[in-house]
Amino acid sequence: MVELKTERELNGLVRLDRSHADEVNALRLSRLRETQGFTADEAVLVWSEDDDQSLVLGIREEGRLIATQRMDVISEPAKLRTKLDYDGFEKHIELPCLVVGKAATAFSHAGRGLNSYLNALAVEHAQHLGLRYVVETVVADGPRTGFLSDLGFEFYPHPLGWRRFGYHSTSNVVVAVLDLNRHPNLTPSLRLQELYKKYPASWQHLRRS
Ligand SMILES: CC(C)(COP(=O)(O)OP(=O)(O)OC[C@H]1O[C@@H](n2cnc3c(N)ncnc32)[C@H](O)[C@@H]1OP(=O)(O)O)[C@@H](O)C(=O)NCCC(=O)NCCS
Repeated sequence: MVELKTERELNGLVRLDRSHADEVNALRLSRLRETQGFTADEAVLVWSEDDDQSLVLGIREEGRLIATQRMDVISEPAKLRTKLDYDGFEKHIELPCLVVGKAATAFSHAGRGLNSYLNALAVEHAQHLGLRYVVETVVADGPRTGFLSDLGFEFYPHPLGWRRFGYHSTSNVVVAVLDLNRHPNLTPSLRLQELYKKYPASWQHLRRS
């Protein structure tokens, strides 16, 4: 995976594997099981074979896992359907694409830019792999849409919401799509630094960790 300039200053970035399943499960279950806009079944949150085949990133502070997110390279329309809970979305993009999901940040560290950092890494990872599209499903107007929009993501309505594969939305859901062909000079780390300038407290926090 490519490195962001900020990575050196954020010492706690780690790739997680099955040996970290307990702490990943604990963070996902505490944050994703019931949150603003949706609920999720425990079965879809705990470490699975999909995680074994994906890039699951984590950020640690003093050894404790404080944020995580997963990136999957998806090549099959059937797999895209279950990832997004959306039939036929492949007509809007081209496969393979990078699907980002399972985002969870500890309550104690929310709103400090950690998930934005993981999203910037996902975009750099897609660039590194030569993939054209990065795709996420998110709650409309939820806590991640501002930064995604700033990176160039566009939002497609998800008319039926999450309902079939273990997630159950209670608010509107959108599919966020970044077409890297339309943003050939995108430098996510620069956008991230703008975010940290906007929120100096979060930047200082990350430098200390
Ligand atoms: C969604 C979630 C992963 C976001 O994690 P996070 O690390 O708090 O996210 P960030 O701090 O990077 O960004 C959140 C927002 O705070 C803003 N922010 C960043 N630092 C900030 C600061 N110091 N002060 C105020 N806002 C700040 C970001 O700009 C971003 O706003 P945006 O909506 O305009 O993009 C987290 O809230 C979570 O675990 N929620 C429960 C699970 C969930 O909803 N997962 C996603 C499923 S769609």
